[in-house]
Amino acid sequence: MLRTHHCGELRKNDVGKEVTLCGWVDTRRDHGGLIFIDVRDRWGVTQTVFNPAVSKELHGKAEQLRSEYVIQVKGKVTERPPGTENAKLPTGQIEVVAADLEILNTSPTPPFEISGTEPLSEEIRLKYRFLDIRRPSMMRNLTTRHKVTQIAREYFNNLQFIEVETPYLTKSTPEGARDFLVPARLSPGEFYALPQSPQLFKQILMVSGIDRYFQIVRCFRDEDLRADRQLEHTQIDVEMSFVNEEDILGVIENLMAAVVKGVLCREIKTPFLRMPYDEAMNRYGSDKPDLRFGMELRDVTDILKGSQSKIFEESFAKGGVAKGILVPAAASFSRKDLDDLTQYAKDFGAQGLAWFKIQDAVDSPIRKFFSDEQMNRLTRELGAEKGGLILVVTGDWKMVCIVLGALRFHLAQKLNLIARDQLSLHWVVKFPLFEWNDEEKRMQACHHPFTSPQPGDLHLLESEPLKVHARAYDLVFNGTEAGGGSIRIHNRDIQKKVFGILGIEDKDAEEKFGFLLKALEFGAPPHGGIALGLDRLTALLLGLDSIREVIAFPKTQKGICPLSQAPSPVSPRQIKELHLTLKA
Ligand code: AMO
Repeated sequence: MLRTHHCGELRKNDVGKEVTLCGWVDTRRDHGGLIFIDVRDRWGVTQTVFNPAVSKELHGKAEQLRSEYVIQVKGKVTERPPGTENAKLPTGQIEVVAADLEILNTSPTPPFEISGTEPLSEEIRLKYRFLDIRRPSMMRNLTTRHKVTQIAREYFNNLQFIEVETPYLTKSTPEGARDFLVPARLSPGEFYALPQSPQLFKQILMVSGIDRYFQIVRCFRDEDLRADRQLEHTQIDVEMSFVNEEDILGVIENLMAAVVKGVLCREIKTPFLRMPYDEAMNRYGSDKPDLRFGMELRDVTDILKGSQSKIFEESFAKGGVAKGILVPAAASFSRKDLDDLTQYAKDFGAQGLAWFKIQDAVDSPIRKFFSDEQMNRLTRELGAEKGGLILVVTGDWKMVCIVLGALRFHLAQKLNLIARDQLSLHWVVKFPLFEWNDEEKRMQACHHPFTSPQPGDLHLLESEPLKVHARAYDLVFNGTEAGGGSIRIHNRDIQKKVFGILGIEDKDAEEKFGFLLKALEFGAPPHGGIALGLDRLTALLLGLDSIREVIAFPKTQKGICPLSQAPSPVSPRQIKELHLTLKA
């Protein structure tokens, strides 16, 4: 080893030891003859001192050091003179008086200071990711991610799960996103797809008798990027045989307890709350409600029915509902604030946003359309006090829920109502099996086409498919979907019916996932599983807004890697070998 200790290690009880440290020059300070070099590595920073009285030559060498030079310093650990200790540094009680210095490598001036606190653009950080990762915050993020992975591996191993790898070059999996395709050189005109998840293979492993499978696995989805979405993400993927929902939820709850304990040294209570989808939508306007604050939605359809408002009456006549939220102490919002909120509501699909300021009297541009009785009941239903603001949306149930859910979260952030130190983990269960895709005028699976219907709803499968509930569950962590899964269909007839409702013809099913259907014929055990998003989970544990912070080399919002410059053109020869021609 080129070193005896790392840079975060030395303490007062090491005083007197001869040590060798290696690392990067974090800062250099000249103080009336003495030169102080803070040496940094993954573990921390240690101050070294170069004294011209000890060696003029050595001092001269230290003068040449610049930020991010790589050095090896030999010297003696001494106690810092009284008054010069640094309580903020774990090594702040000592310094190393240098007796020898080797410059192992030099560096140009870095584009940003590694220990600096000034905000940096993400473009610069990602372009120089090798420097960005030297920063203590990125070191912490990647170390935490590693810890989560290790805890998960150990946890599943202890429960006798087997980690099995599944292919990355495969056939497309129907998870709802666009596939990344890879041209197959050996099969001209044909393509592999990168898996959106190992869904089909993990089910096949259950047919094989693997019984308890897990894999920490990369998944690829060509979808629009957001703070919590990447083109490639990592899942902690799980599948189990001979289980029901409760078995899987229990395994994951204990995993989460182990992870939270291991990473944050905090205890969480199990079992987690299980909230049916309908309740989540009705009360919070979201299928991943953040329960760290209130502002619940209330149904006010009955209260507002029978007014002079054309908009409300027309909406009710079409079977619409009206729901409201109370924003505490927001009656002081300006006209501009309210116009902005209205636009926000429209962006989520509302026709408009009705607002009622609760002051001595109710103040609202549409107050005149409602009776005093209606206003009193509205105020009471929402528990509004003077100074509050009631926001109401009317229209189709799902749209109303989604708009108010979005407003609820937006306002809670704006007004700082979220208890950020709380860990809120719960399940959303009993999702619908299908949803209507109005754009494409077709039925689609809420989770995926292999999700089992609830046995009690089987009789509705053909007559009223939208009323059928799924044996599906999502893990919600601080208002983010951290994982999702389901009990699968293991009966061929039910699977066929579900495909029928989804408009997947026998021929299509055979072509797309015939290999799974074939396997299911050969004695498929009842089985189910789940996948947790490792990137999201780690970001949530660290309280970070973007998963890019916990991925070593992520892509930007535009899907670009500023470091490697991927994606990039390839040579005409490569294109030709793949039997492709490019249009432009
Ligand atoms: P699902 O599609 O719900 O389920 O994905 C599981 C979890 O993976 C994470 N996730 C993502 N994270 C970052 N970027 C993305 N683009 C992205 N997409 C998903 C989320 C999500 O909850 N095969 C099923 C699981 C199963 O049924 O067992 C599946 O992939 O945290």
